[in-house]
Amino acid sequence: MSAQFPVVRPRRLRRAPALRRMVAETRLAPADLVLPMFVKEDAGEPQPVQSMPGVFQHTRDSLRKAAHEAAEAGVGGIILFGIPAVKDGAGSGADDPDGIVQLALRDLASDLGSGPDAATVLMTDLCLDEYTDHGHCGVLTPAGEIDNDATLERYASIALAQAEAGAAVVGPSGMMDGQVGAIRTALDGAGHTDVAILAYSVKYASAYYGPFREAAECAPQFGDRSTHQQDPANAEESLREVLLDIDEGADMVMVKPAGAYLDIVRRVRDTVRVPVAAYQVSGEYAMVEAAAERGWIDRDRTIMESLTSIRRAGADMVLTYWATEAARRLS
Ligand code: PBG
Repeated sequence: MSAQFPVVRPRRLRRAPALRRMVAETRLAPADLVLPMFVKEDAGEPQPVQSMPGVFQHTRDSLRKAAHEAAEAGVGGIILFGIPAVKDGAGSGADDPDGIVQLALRDLASDLGSGPDAATVLMTDLCLDEYTDHGHCGVLTPAGEIDNDATLERYASIALAQAEAGAAVVGPSGMMDGQVGAIRTALDGAGHTDVAILAYSVKYASAYYGPFREAAECAPQFGDRSTHQQDPANAEESLREVLLDIDEGADMVMVKPAGAYLDIVRRVRDTVRVPVAAYQVSGEYAMVEAAAERGWIDRDRTIMESLTSIRRAGADMVLTYWATEAARRLS
């Protein structure tokens, strides 16, 4: 027993909901949440993702509806992932002006506004894995390895296509060296100086991405991503990556996944002077949904606790598939 007891009693401030609310250190608001959304080319109907109950591969129409609901709930932003009808070695659908993400961006920009009048921030994932027939995040050398520098040219071109279609923020997620600089140069060269970059600076080679690969139909056909994504054993490397990306022009940086990497979120928040996002990924979502379905966990409380914890660790924004639902609960 502390010598200060019985004078000092921490429980005094936990006695009533109003007291707890007043002294809460971490607040979660709808504007902190970003909703990742999938849109599939030539989909007749929205397709449920089996391993992510409640998540859909949208049609253009169902995307508009769901994006409208998200904006109405006050979510801070939407980040789009496209699933093209046809894939090839170069991932041509990614920078086609009529590629699925570009079409969806134009729809959403006209519905929700883009620029100063926007109801929510329109963002894009900028990568090739959804678009290549081999499922890798870049183009390949004849030997079947990812060609880092050739991939940068593809990313630059994708950034332009996305910016021209109305993206306010592009999110390069392929973990190629030099990607942020290549994209910034391309955007600026084309006059898109106002388009911001949310760099997936810290991206671990994670088993928690499993369900996403069903959702985005992008499992690598051979090999894995551990030659470009980071080793979960490393932390210093993450600080190096964020500092490099900021140097190359990143406006915001991201840590991914979130839940198993809260120490990294905290260290990044303490290191950089730009907004920090954390991505609560598909596996984090699926685990909670699956346990809740079995009645093993209180779903709603677990969702809000996980989001609060990611904020407490230092994330300014959280990308989460529960964004609309959580935003509604918060407002
Ligand atoms: C790559 C990308 C991935 C995710 C987001 N962007 C997959 C990967 O790197 O394998 C995973 C997101 C999630 O699991 O929710 N375009």
